[in-house]
Amino acid sequence: MEPQRILMVSPEVAPFKKVGGLADVVAALSKALAARGHDVRILMPRYADLTGFVGAQPLDAPLIVRLGGHEAYGRLWQHCLPGSEVPCYFIEHNQYFGGSSVYTAPSGIDQDNGKRFVFLSRAAIDFCEQTDWIPDVIHCHDWPCGLTPVYLNTTEAERPMGRVATVFTIHNLEHHGWFHRSLLQFSGLPDTVFRSDGLESMGEFNMLKGGLYHATKITTVSPRYAAEVQTADGGHGLNSLLRFRSSDLIGVLNGVDTEEWDPQTDPSLPQPYSAENFAGKAAAKAALQSAYGLEIRPDVPLFTVVSRLVNQKGLDLLAGIADRLLADMEIQIAVLGTGEPHLEAAFHQLTARHPGRFGSYIGFDNELAHLTIGGGDCFLMPSRFEPCGLGQMYAMIYGTVPVVRATGGLIDTVSKYNEVTGSGTGFVFEHPTQEALYYTIGWACATYYDRPAAFHQLQLRGMRGHYTWDGSAEKYEAVYSWARQARDGAFD
Ligand code: ADP
Ligand code: GLC
Repeated sequence: MEPQRILMVSPEVAPFKKVGGLADVVAALSKALAARGHDVRILMPRYADLTGFVGAQPLDAPLIVRLGGHEAYGRLWQHCLPGSEVPCYFIEHNQYFGGSSVYTAPSGIDQDNGKRFVFLSRAAIDFCEQTDWIPDVIHCHDWPCGLTPVYLNTTEAERPMGRVATVFTIHNLEHHGWFHRSLLQFSGLPDTVFRSDGLESMGEFNMLKGGLYHATKITTVSPRYAAEVQTADGGHGLNSLLRFRSSDLIGVLNGVDTEEWDPQTDPSLPQPYSAENFAGKAAAKAALQSAYGLEIRPDVPLFTVVSRLVNQKGLDLLAGIADRLLADMEIQIAVLGTGEPHLEAAFHQLTARHPGRFGSYIGFDNELAHLTIGGGDCFLMPSRFEPCGLGQMYAMIYGTVPVVRATGGLIDTVSKYNEVTGSGTGFVFEHPTQEALYYTIGWACATYYDRPAAFHQLQLRGMRGHYTWDGSAEKYEAVYSWARQARDGAFD
């Protein structure tokens, strides 16, 4: 395949800034594409507290971002994505990105949040022009980059960037980037895009909708999610639009950065382990129990969670049954997460009510995430919806058996344990209810105690699965070529 020039634009990129899996995916996909010979560059905001930013170099010339009736000036910094030679560019702009939060403006005002990501969407184009690098494809990730395809189809149509193809990846359709219509004027986009088959939604300005109408091609992060987003249940109000664009839409399953997530080399674990040399797993469990103040008991099944604490993840179901679970079953639970205050409070209270058996750490901690995934026996993801999910794949690599609801990417990555045939990699349930979760944890618990050899085989099947980026990177290459052909065709 001939090398392609690809600009990745994302609000978060690991390790510099991470809220969730989006950051992991942009970093790992970029590395995988670069390893296949492509010229990949990344553009993201320079937030106040980036991890690993030391050593970044400022570029001499300012970045001039052309918005509606005015220009905004940013400063560009350059650094390499760790473990690769992929250049990552950071846009500094104090008013927009001077804070440390990815999805709230430093001012705390919602409309300002809209402005910062209009700025990012527009900056992607001005960055290419001003660094004299015209890519073949701009790969946009989620609503914060939603306007890039809209600019390319309108204000840029007759300019040098107008022929660049766009691929828009939906990591999560729930968040639209929905703002007051005055953002249209701020953006400098023509009034003609503000219509129901554009970025207008109930009289307001919807960045995701604009991106989905205007992108050359659209991907979702798993094949199952590509089907779900076209249904009323999974479409978050955009299902008709996605059905309309279904011939330009394809699901590409996320992979895992196996350099970062490997129990044989993971510095967060007390001892390395593998499917062939499993002893270190027990050391990880003991370290995890100690980190969460749990009783150090190798014999008790330990269920863990590492997650954003939001409605999507279904962890209210766990909070709702945890007392009953701990009364009825000899198990331990450890939760690492941050998010909605009522869930944080619920896990705090459970920790206080069940010392030594329920542990929680409310916060974001990458190192503890590795230990929590590695040290558990089972990993819980009772998600209401899950576009792909990385946690369950990390868990399987670490010999931690996933307990998941059958939705989205969880269906594509975890196969249901079948006791008769001895196949499958996890405990899977259908309905997002407390009862279903309760009985599925019971199933996992019974398997652990009553059929330890079968439980161990489940662990080993997970560890021997293939989760690398290679296959998915190859699929993205094909999507980029498909997008370029379509874009070229539009100009013939
Ligand atoms: P989502 O992107 O919807 O949050 P994923 O499963 O795709 O779900 O990715 C979540 C990523 O974020 C994983 O890498 C997980 O380890 C990480 N993560 C989530 N919460 C925390 C936390 N509190 N501390 C550290 N890492 C976290
Ligand atoms: C989103 C989704 C998650 C997915 C991640 C990376 O945050 O919620 O399912 O794995 O993006 O694509």
